[in-house]
Formats: sequence, C-alpha cells, structure tokens
Amino acid sequence: MSFAKNLARVSGVLSLALAVRGQKYNTTGYTLQDAYDASNFFESFDFFSGPDPTSGFVQYADAVTANSTGLAGYANNGIYLGVDYQTANPSAGRASVRLSSKKAYTHGLIIADIAHQPDSVCGSWPAFWTFGPSWPHSGEIDIIEGVNKQTNSTITLHTAPGCSFSQNSFSSADCGSPGDGTQGCGASTQDTQTFGAGFNAIGGGVYALQWTSDAIKVFFFPRTGKIPADINAGNPNPSNWGRPTASFSGGSCNIDANFMNHNIVFDTTFCGQWAGKVWSEDPVCSAKASTCQEYVASNPADFQNTYWLINSVKVFSEAGATKRGIAKRFDA
Ligand SMILES: *[C@@H]1O[C@H](CO)[C@@H](O)[C@H](O)[C@H]1NC(C)=O
Ligand SMILES: *[C@@H]1O[C@H](CO)[C@@H](O)[C@H](O)[C@H]1NC(C)=O
Ligand SMILES: *[C@@H]1O[C@H](CO)[C@@H](O)[C@H](O)[C@H]1NC(C)=O
Repeated sequence: MSFAKNLARVSGVLSLALAVRGQKYNTTGYTLQDAYDASNFFESFDFFSGPDPTSGFVQYADAVTANSTGLAGYANNGIYLGVDYQTANPSAGRASVRLSSKKAYTHGLIIADIAHQPDSVCGSWPAFWTFGPSWPHSGEIDIIEGVNKQTNSTITLHTAPGCSFSQNSFSSADCGSPGDGTQGCGASTQDTQTFGAGFNAIGGGVYALQWTSDAIKVFFFPRTGKIPADINAGNPNPSNWGRPTASFSGGSCNIDANFMNHNIVFDTTFCGQWAGKVWSEDPVCSAKASTCQEYVASNPADFQNTYWLINSVKVFSEAGATKRGIAKRFDA
C-alpha cells in the first residue's frame, strides 16, 4: 500500500516538474489537472440518490444499486450511465443515475469526449452541466441539455440576478431571470449534431467549456473529422478553435462573483420542471399520452437508447493560475 502511495507521489512530483518546465515553452496556457475515464470515473464521481431537485418522475440510484442493476458501469472503454428500460409502471419513478464530480472547479477548460448521449425521446431530460453551492448564487453552466423530441442542445447559464452579457451569442437576458435564476440566459444551438439522435448518428464528439474571468464559452466538435488536433494531442489551445457554439462575455456580469466551485454533473431525468412542463406543447409527445409521467411509466422499451457513453472528461487549468483555479470541494 505504501509502495503504491510512494509511486503515486513520485509520479505526481515528476509530472509537476514537467508541467512547470513546459509552461516556459508552451504557449497554449493549459495544463492537465484531472482526467476522468474508464480507469477512475466511479472513484471520482458521487452518485446522487436523493429526490430529484427538478421534480422529475425519476428514482436516482445509489452506487451499489446502479452497479447491481446495470444502470451504470464501465463499457466499451468508457463510462455507461443508463436508465431502467425494462420496468413498466415503476411506482417511485423510472430508475436512472445522476453523478457529480467529487472535485469542484473554478475557471479552466473542461473537455468531454462523449460517444453517445440519451436519444431524443418523449419524456426524457438529459443534461451535462456544472453548478456550485447555494444555487443559484455560485452559478450553473448547462453544456448539453434538452427535452423530449428536441434535436438541438440548449446551452444556458443560471445565477443570481444582475448578471447579463452583451456578447451572449443567443440573447441578452439576465442570467438571473426571472428574479430567481430558474430561467437563466441562453438558447438552443443551431446544430442538430449537438444533441440526441443527431449527435449519436455521427458517433458523438467533443464538448469543451472554457471558463475564465472574462468569458464562458462552449465549443462542440463533431467526431466526423472536426476534433482539433491539439485536443487529440492532449495540448488543447482554444485560440485555434474558431467561433464557439456559445459565448457569454461583455456586459454587466462579474463572472468571478457569479460562478464558482462547480462540480461536473451528468444525469438523465424524466418529466418534471422542463420535459413535463412543456409536454402539452409538444404535438408528437402529447399525442402519445396525456401526461409525461403516464408515458414514461408505461413505455420502458422506448428508453433503451437513453444512456450516456462517455470516453473521458479532462479538466485543464490555466498555467500559472493553478492555485487560483482549483477550488476545494464543497460538501453539500
Ligand atoms: C508542452 O508541449 C509538449 C509538446 O507538445 C507536450 O508534450 C507537453 O505536455 C506540453 N506541456 C504542457 C504543460 O502543456
Ligand atoms: C460492479 O460490481 C462488480 C462486482 O462486484 C465489480 O467487479 C465492478 O468493479 C463494479 N463496477 C463498478 C463500476 O464499480
Ligand atoms: C436546430 O438546428 C437546425 C440546423 O442544424 C436549425 O435549422 C434549427 O433552427 C435548430 N433548431 C432550433 C430550435 O434552434
């Protein structure tokens, strides 16, 4: 045991030395801080098994249940996070998982290589997002999110009122709107490869969140030949990436006062405050059942493709700003 510990310490010191030396010569400004993949994911993320804060028709499983029922595990060299697609009329909600990184981050570059995300299916509400303590005061960044048959990802920021961006590529709304942060600011992307079935049809791709004091940007790169070489090389350089899919900058928002200590989250819920709320406005879904919950309860087989398959999530910090960039985990 102490042998392993010593080894870890030695390799830690070595990589630190390399990183420090690298900073002198590399111009990208980003250094790998944490890599989560099929070798360590479930040791680095916690299962949230409480009632869904978004009032979904879902029962989030704990780690032991998720493993024993096949809801979560390592598969295809990646991380599989699925839902129960066999049980009809589960009384407490359809079983699913919601995982949060043990570590929390302020600033940095989060790069997620995702092979599959939940398909665009009536009743589902998957999300890949980050958020901090005392919601909405430490902010929330929704990187991939959508409901029901939607074909495009919605990228949204939430925080306390008084934060708006002039360079928000979607709208200029206050990210604390409508007074409690529940609506936030942001909008749908103009790209059907960013979400659900369209994303899965091309084998997924890479999402990157770049978060500095000046801007919050989200980039999406389809797997079909569009992933930048610097990402594949492990030396990401956002200044080479062109126009982001979403960019929030300028305006009145003090990013550092409104966004901090974020845990990284993947989840899939059903119905609730978004998918359920808009059910009756969706002509295709509402024709299948009068309520979202009724549909989700009685059509388990529709959720066979409602799963995440994540190759990796890598967190890079700004070189020279490592101390400032790392936040200790906040226990809820
Ligand atoms: C610097 O660049 C080299 C070559 O691309 C790479 O091997 C090294 O990991 C980089 N170092 C940092 C700190 O990014
Ligand atoms: C799930 O349980 C099996 C059997 O105990 C174990 O071998 C496996 O490592 C577990 N998977 C995860 C992701 O913890
Ligand atoms: C989704 O993307 C397509 C193009 O890829 C676009 O035509 C459509 O308007 C987008 N949908 C929404 C709701 O923005």
